[in-house]
Amino acid sequence: MRDVRPLLRYGRNRLPEVRNSRMVAETQNSSLSRAKTNKEDEFYTQIEDVERELKHYRKHFKGKVVYLNCDDPRVSAFFHFFSYNFEKFGLKKLIATCYKNQKRDLFSTHDSERAIFLEYEGDKDGDRIPGDDEIEVKYLNGDGDFRSAEAIELLKQADIVVTNPPFSLFREYVAQLIEYNKKFIILANQNAVTYQEIFPLLMGEKMWLGASSGDMSFRVPDHYTPRETRFWIDDAGQKWRSFGNMCWFTNLDYRKRHEDLILYKTYSSEEYPSYDNYDAIDVGRIADIPKDYDGIMGVTPGFLTKHNPDQFEIVGITQSWFDCRIKTYPQQTQINSNGATSLVSKLNDGPSIKVNVPPKGKTYYKVGANLYVKAYARILIRNKKVEG
Ligand SMILES: C[S@@+](CC[C@H](N)C(=O)[O-])C[C@H]1O[C@@H](n2cnc3c(N)ncnc32)[C@H](O)[C@@H]1O
Repeated sequence: MRDVRPLLRYGRNRLPEVRNSRMVAETQNSSLSRAKTNKEDEFYTQIEDVERELKHYRKHFKGKVVYLNCDDPRVSAFFHFFSYNFEKFGLKKLIATCYKNQKRDLFSTHDSERAIFLEYEGDKDGDRIPGDDEIEVKYLNGDGDFRSAEAIELLKQADIVVTNPPFSLFREYVAQLIEYNKKFIILANQNAVTYQEIFPLLMGEKMWLGASSGDMSFRVPDHYTPRETRFWIDDAGQKWRSFGNMCWFTNLDYRKRHEDLILYKTYSSEEYPSYDNYDAIDVGRIADIPKDYDGIMGVTPGFLTKHNPDQFEIVGITQSWFDCRIKTYPQQTQINSNGATSLVSKLNDGPSIKVNVPPKGKTYYKVGANLYVKAYARILIRNKKVEG
């Protein structure tokens, strides 16, 4: 039997996280070559982030089979968390599958076509520690791809799937969970909320964002190419990468999700301009959502981290694929902040606001005699509890 103790004993003191030392300069300055060199999918979650989120869902786990389908159990913080909290959460079974790699190094290099899976059914010898004699390690026939037939068989056994899946396959990953009607708590980048395959699930309340979000740091493999920002090497030589916009996606409810956002501003047409091409007003900051406005409001995607379905309804998004524009522009002249002009069609890609004078130091657009500025992608919402 494979020895899983080294993982299980990295214990509560975990891996080094000292963020000082060698901030490393970018060696290959083209982001294109960086994207090619770095395996965008190899980001390893810290146990603190798992704990911070999972504590909100404890009641959902009693008697449940949990499946971690993108996790090398020998190194996964998710496996560590659930095996050590197995009894506390009242789990029935924990299953983990590992993609390709069979070696016990920290980061998979995907050099083996055969993967393992692991099952744990709780502490048997009473020491409250998941020992290697209690964890059954088995070989998969294939590579452990979450889409493979044998991984899907394990998925069918599962009640709740929890992991940080490969970023590059996020759309497909979510589609599979929905297809198999699974409960899930998964970590991803907030950019995903505007995806055509993801946003409708959020709008339709088939899933929502979890309790914690924002800055998170991940261990990355040795072969990760250094970059100028959000990258460092700790004193132990471990490479790290952080992202400022991480969030969890889930379809399990939690209490915090039903807390009202306290609103204090009142609507005025001067402070909240209407879009020219959407039937909504622009609200640039979540804290500025007016408490007394009963029409549709455009808010930044970050709103979804605060969304309480009892307080607001999500009605759309200003992405062209959603197609709720009330107006389409002919070709526009773009005038950059340096005065350079070009003919574009960009104004049709998002919400626009008509202005009377050219904005200082900002790009704007001209259609005939009319001037416009463009806002970033907005989620369209309506307040269900309008005050006053
Ligand atoms: C973002 S990393 C997260 C790893 C681990 N879940 C964690 O949170 O530390 C995504 C993991 O998915 C694995 N992976 C990539 N493609 C996969 C696939 N098709 N099926 C299953 N796992 C995959 C990668 O090797 C990588 O370990």
